[in-house]
Amino acid sequence: MSPANPTILVTGGAGYIGSHAVLALEAAGYPVVILDSLEYGHPELAQQHLKAEVIVGSTTDRLLLDQIFATHKIGAVMHFAAYIAVGESVQKPAEYYHNNVVGTLTLLQAMVAVGVKQLVFSSTCAIYGPPKTIPIPEDHPKNPISPYATSKLMVEQMLQDFEQAYGLNAVVFRYFNAAGADPQGRLGEDHQPETHLIPLVLMTALGHRESISIFGTDYDTPDGTCIRDYIHVADLADAHVKGIDYLSQGGQTTFINLGNGNGFSVRQVIDTARRITNCEIPAVERDRRPGDPPSLVGSSERGKAVLGWEPQYPDVESIITHAWQWHQQRHGWGK
Ligand code: UFG
Repeated sequence: MSPANPTILVTGGAGYIGSHAVLALEAAGYPVVILDSLEYGHPELAQQHLKAEVIVGSTTDRLLLDQIFATHKIGAVMHFAAYIAVGESVQKPAEYYHNNVVGTLTLLQAMVAVGVKQLVFSSTCAIYGPPKTIPIPEDHPKNPISPYATSKLMVEQMLQDFEQAYGLNAVVFRYFNAAGADPQGRLGEDHQPETHLIPLVLMTALGHRESISIFGTDYDTPDGTCIRDYIHVADLADAHVKGIDYLSQGGQTTFINLGNGNGFSVRQVIDTARRITNCEIPAVERDRRPGDPPSLVGSSERGKAVLGWEPQYPDVESIITHAWQWHQQRHGWGK
């Protein structure tokens, strides 16, 4: 344990992006404590591959947070814990505002109470709403169209106010489409239920699903399907470590897109997966999924300029290759 590196509290550290961030923090020499409700996280993977202690609980539990800050010398917080399903948030806004907004407010209050003033926060490109310009810069207008996205934008607003009033500095990362898996195969994506394109395509390749649905083929894009900016989870994790370094050097609150600045269509993703897996992957064309913008691609310049971040795996081939390694090992072949 290096005396130079403070302990980082990682909420949601047993989840998909959080666990990869813990892996990267530990590789960089940071001691980590995880707080995770385990509603969706995978404690067995954390136990197997991460050194961090896992404390089970919610960020809405102020007593537990006070106890954690009292018993661990926390220097900074990485806050991943949140509900993330856009569609579900429309059905259950109360749960989303409670967990994502009240939970974050409770965490921020506990931080301020003990003088912990550095936070890396997971936001989303969904706060921009339908884009007016592509690639989307960070100062693009914010028009969230789901309670999930609104909950993240509310926290962004709180963080600006907390910087002014309490000197709490935050690096806010607006993720584009997180995908891929640890290149060494230790961790990967395993949501229950799964709604994301790349894992569903790979589960189809493995025979666990009959086909992949293509939601909408009549968009105003070159092949008629939606375009997204896929970003490797290991590159996201690396940006988070750089975010902690930035804050420890006195960095002010900043808002940064995490994407590659390149878009790939649903058909391109499926075709790439067919090449990499050498499987047929039957695809069925279906109606548009409500709420999907045709194209979401982020400008990634600010992350490079402010943090010196440079994605190692900017190509969709690496993202799918690593996800494929992980899915074969985690789920095996279906019927
Ligand atoms: N898609 C399909 N078939 C599927 C699943 C997805 O065609 O079975 C399409 C979607 O319509 C979309 C693209 O593949 O065009 C990517 O879909 P994902 O569900 O993988 O990801 P989203 O772009 O919908 O969601 C991501 C993040 C959310 C974030 C959202 C912002 O996962 O957290 O971007 O729009 F809120």
